[in-house]
Amino acid sequence: MSDISRHHLNPPNRVLLGPGPSNVHPRVQGAMLAPLVGHLDPYFLTVMEDTMHLLRGLFQTKNELTFPISGTGSAGMEAGLCNFLEPGDVAVIGVNGFFGERMVDVAQRCGAEVVRVAAEWGRIVEPEAIEAALKAQRRVKLLALVHAETSTGVLQPLVEASQLAKQYEALFLVDTVTSLGGHEVAVDEWGIDICYSGSQKCLSCPPGLAPFTVNQRALAGLGARARKVQSLYLDLGLLSSYWPTGSFYHHTAPICMIYALHEALALAAEEGLEARFQRHLRHGSALRAGLEAMGLRLHAQEGYRLNTLTSVRIPPGVDDVRVRQRLLHEFGIEIGGGLGSLKGQIWRIGLMGYSSTQENVLLLLSALEKLLVAEGWSVEAGAGVTAAAQALREK
Ligand SMILES: Cc1ncc(COP(=O)(O)O)c(C=O)c1O
Repeated sequence: MSDISRHHLNPPNRVLLGPGPSNVHPRVQGAMLAPLVGHLDPYFLTVMEDTMHLLRGLFQTKNELTFPISGTGSAGMEAGLCNFLEPGDVAVIGVNGFFGERMVDVAQRCGAEVVRVAAEWGRIVEPEAIEAALKAQRRVKLLALVHAETSTGVLQPLVEASQLAKQYEALFLVDTVTSLGGHEVAVDEWGIDICYSGSQKCLSCPPGLAPFTVNQRALAGLGARARKVQSLYLDLGLLSSYWPTGSFYHHTAPICMIYALHEALALAAEEGLEARFQRHLRHGSALRAGLEAMGLRLHAQEGYRLNTLTSVRIPPGVDDVRVRQRLLHEFGIEIGGGLGSLKGQIWRIGLMGYSSTQENVLLLLSALEKLLVAEGWSVEAGAGVTAAAQALREK
C-alpha cells in the first residue's frame, strides 16, 4: 500500500532573503483563502477595478491601462516587448546584467533588430552610451532599461534616459520587477511609456502576477501594427477589453492571486509610499554597513546600490554553496547566489517588502558571521551586527 501521508504538503517556514520571492504578509496569505467567486462575478469586477486603482497609486500614474498580467514578471517583459515590436523594428536595450540580456532575447524573438548598450555587470548603463546608440540609428522604436538589475544589485537612473527616448522619438520601456514597492517608480513624472513588475518581490505576494502599465502614447501606436501581436494571451488590445469591465472573455483570471495582490497593494497604501521607501532604505543601509564591517566588499557601483537587493563579493577561500546551504538548513534563511558570469562570485541578499525588517538584517548578519568564521574568514566578533545596529539607530 502506498503511504498517502507523504503526499501531504508540509513546506518549511523560511526567512526569504534571496532575490525573490520575499516572505508573504499574513494578510496576503489570508486573502488567498477567501471564497472563490467566478471571474465574471459582479463582486470580482469590483476587486479588479480596485486593484487597478491601487496599482495606479503604486506606479504613480494616471494610465487607464494599469493592471496585473496573469503570469510572472517574465510575462510582463514579454507583453511589454511583443506588443510594441514588430519584425524589423530597432530596439535599443541596456544590458548590465542577466535581465537586460533576457530583454534582448525576447526582443529578438519578436523579430526586432536589437542594439545592445552593454555595461559591466555591477555598473549602470551610462546615458552617454545610450545617446550614442540612439543617435547611430535612423529610427528607434523602443528604448528599454532595467530599473533594478536583480542579478547585480544596481539601481539604474531613468530620467535622463527618458528624455533621450523622447528626443529620439522612441518608446521608453522599464523593468521594475525588483524596485516597484521598494524604490520610487514615478511612471508619469519620469516619462515612462511602458512599465512592468512582478508580484513576488517588493510587494510580498506569491509569484504569478506582473503589474503592468502603459500610456496612451504607446497604445496609440498599436493600431498601426502591420500584423497581429503573435501572442494572443499577452495581446494588450484584447486584454484592454477584459480589464476592467470583465465584459469580454479573454482568459480566466487567477482570482486568488488577484485577491492576494489586492491585499498587498492595500498594505502598501496603508503604509504610505514614502514611508515604505524609507523603510527599505533604512534596512538596506544597515545591511550594507554590517557586511562592510565584516570585511566584505559590496559588488554594485557605489551611489547606485539597490536597497531591495544587495550584492556582496564572496570572500576568498569561502565556499559559496556550503555557506548558502548552511544558512538554509541551520538558520532557515534563503539568500541567492550569483547569476550568469557572477555565479560563485557574489551573494545576493534581498530585503524586499515584508522581508525588509531590522530583525532580518540582524539575524542574517549574525548567522553569516558564524558561518564565515567556520570557513576561515576572520571577522571581529559582533562587528556586522554592531555596525548595522548603529546604522539603524542613526536613521
Ligand atoms: C529584473 C527582473 N526582471 C524580470 C524578472 C523575471 O521575473 P519572473 O521570474 O517573475 O518571471 C526578474 C526575476 O527575478 C527580475 O529580477
